[in-house]
Formats: sequence, structure tokens, C-alpha cells
Amino acid sequence: MSLRLGDIAPNFKAKTSQGELDFYEYIGDSWAVLFSHPADYTPVCTTELGRTASLSEEFAKRDVKVIALSVDPVDKHQGWINDINETQNVEVNFPLIADENKEVAEAYGMIHPNASETATVRSLFIISPDKKIKLIISYPASTGRNFQEILRVIDSLQLTANYSVATPADWKEGEDVVVTPAIKTEDIPAKFPKGHRIVKPYLRFTPQPNK
Ligand code: BEZ
Repeated sequence: MSLRLGDIAPNFKAKTSQGELDFYEYIGDSWAVLFSHPADYTPVCTTELGRTASLSEEFAKRDVKVIALSVDPVDKHQGWINDINETQNVEVNFPLIADENKEVAEAYGMIHPNASETATVRSLFIISPDKKIKLIISYPASTGRNFQEILRVIDSLQLTANYSVATPADWKEGEDVVVTPAIKTEDIPAKFPKGHRIVKPYLRFTPQPNK
């Protein structure tokens, strides 16, 4: 059965461009982004890994460990990483799993046989420090992912993990958030002293509480 939100992310040991690792040991108590690519030496993947490397400070600020995967071997990864560093003007500083036997890809449902029998699609998982899966997306090989959107979701997940709020459509860090239905309207002033506005009894906004 495929993984769903709230499931525990399976642990694994794998060969990577940075040596063998145990996934849970690599994550430690941090958040994690695990994402797959169809193959090494492909154009869209090259830009995706470059973009991820260029955002490494943004991931670090949010205490997120990043790890990529493709089903190609480590020696191929090493040469490709050199190309990514050269062409994208970055230093890829996160591991790239060499999932040659597709064990991780199978465990995470990264192979969608009706898209490709052999290659992983562009799957991405955000995993919280308690190892629960918080986001799953699958993009086709022909469409590169939007890594600003990944950071935006991480901001939302980290905020909503700590406050009784949710983030509305297109929300960005610093904008007003919605108060969750579990909070009674009469309890809002005590919980959200920065103020609130009631649009409908079920649609209540408050300034981002941790700003
Ligand atoms: C790419 O990463 O550029 C790619 C991979 C497979 C199919 C199409 C594009």
C-alpha cells in the first residue's frame, strides 16, 4: 500500500554520493525533504538539484535536511554533481541516494509504472522530526518542481505545528493566518492577543502569531 500523510516515513540504509547512510540517523531531530528524480544527466533534474543547492541556507534556517534520490549508481552521481556545480554555479552539499536496486523507490512509491516502468517520477516528501510524512507530491518527469513552494509549505507546517492556526490559499510567511475551527470565537482574544477579524463565524483571521 502506498504511503499517505501521517504515516511514519520508512527508514532505510542507502549508498549515497556522501557515503553509506541510515536515513533516520541523517535526519536526526530535524525536518527532512526526500525527493526523487527520473535519472542522472537529465536537464530538468540538473536545474532542480542546482536550485535546491542554491537554497541550502533557506533549508538550514528551517532546520531541514535535504536528500535526493535517483536509481543511478554512485559513480554516475559523482560526475553529474560536478556538472551541476559547474553549470548551476552551486556546491551540491546534500546526499544523492544511489537507489540502484530501487528499494527506497519502492518503499516510498516513487515508481509509477504507468508513467515509467523503470524511472522514478518527481516525488517529494516532507517529513517532520517525529518521522511523520507531512506532504507528498508527485510531478511528472517533464515538469520541474517549484522549490519556493516547498519552502512555503515548510513554513506553514512549522507554524501550524505550534499554533492553532492554518494558512490560507497562497499564504506566505508574514501574512495573516486563519484560526482553526477547534478554537471558539470567544477564546480567540486570549489565544491571539495581536487581534483578529471575523469574516464569517467559520472564517477568522489573525496576524501570524510568531512574528
Ligand atoms: C529531465 O530531468 O530533464 C527529464 C527526465 C526525464 C524525462 C524528461 C526530462
